[in-house]
Amino acid sequence: MTTGKLNGKTVVITGAAQGIGKAYADRLAQEGAQVVLVDLKAEPLAAAVEDLRSKGHQAEGKVLDVSNEQDVKRVGQELGQAFPRIHGLINNAAVFSTIQLKPFWEIDSAEWDKVMAVNVKGPWMLVGALLPYLRAAEAASVVNIGSDAVWMGKDGYMHYVASKAAVYGMTHAMARELGGDNIRVNTLSPGFTETNVPRATFTQEQLNGIMKSQSLKRIADTDDIVGVASFLISDESRWITGQTLHTTGGLLFR
Ligand SMILES: NC(=O)c1ccc[n+]([C@@H]2O[C@H](COP(=O)([O-])OP(=O)(O)OC[C@H]3O[C@@H](n4cnc5c(N)ncnc54)[C@H](O)[C@@H]3O)[C@@H](O)[C@H]2O)c1
Repeated sequence: MTTGKLNGKTVVITGAAQGIGKAYADRLAQEGAQVVLVDLKAEPLAAAVEDLRSKGHQAEGKVLDVSNEQDVKRVGQELGQAFPRIHGLINNAAVFSTIQLKPFWEIDSAEWDKVMAVNVKGPWMLVGALLPYLRAAEAASVVNIGSDAVWMGKDGYMHYVASKAAVYGMTHAMARELGGDNIRVNTLSPGFTETNVPRATFTQEQLNGIMKSQSLKRIADTDDIVGVASFLISDESRWITGQTLHTTGGLLFR
């Protein structure tokens, strides 16, 4: 069912082949957006695009490693040719579900660099590559995906926690520098959110601890957060920029 709230908008979503990114794409498409799904993994990306099209939505796919500067520039230009006005970008791609928990002194520097390149440098490069088309939309919205793991200081993946901490600073600086172009930039910050993707980033003990700490005593799934992404992309949030919305069931209050 299409609600029409995002009719006429073109929105690029990275890391959209699976997990929360696919759920953002589903929700935005349901609300009338033309969605462009971007991901490193070609096969699941094609399946995700096909799934959306089979439901009657407008969806395109682009294979891209967001940490590869040349490819980001090339794909940015290709997207601009296909969609001269891009109204929204959700920087969701991250090294996340594949991370194995370990003490920070055991993380090797290649893994550290990879996490930073995808989670921090990727969003920065992609906003730069799409800037002419975001400007052309005249009222665009960029949503960077953070993580409340930053505020928990969650143990076992310090490179990830540090990378997501950088996302908040990047949002603040981008919001200042792009405000003159009427481009809004915000961070959506999920807490633990269940998807269909298995991962080793939370032990059962940590999960129990998170449930106890949340005000709302259940584990979130993607349906709990996609509406917030839609709100941030939509004109309903047109006076909100440089902010963080925490979708955590009341984990921490800041
Ligand atoms: N699920 C959670 O509990 C949770 C909590 C807080 C924040 N987050 C954040 O939400 C986002 C989505 O989480 P998820 O659970 O769906 O993660 P996920 O690991 O299941 O999905 C990440 C997606 O990003 C893609 N990707 C990875 N590296 C890429 C690259 N270099 N270029 C392009 N695409 C790349 C992957 O192929 C995958 O499709 C991430 O930014 C994550 O950090 C998730």
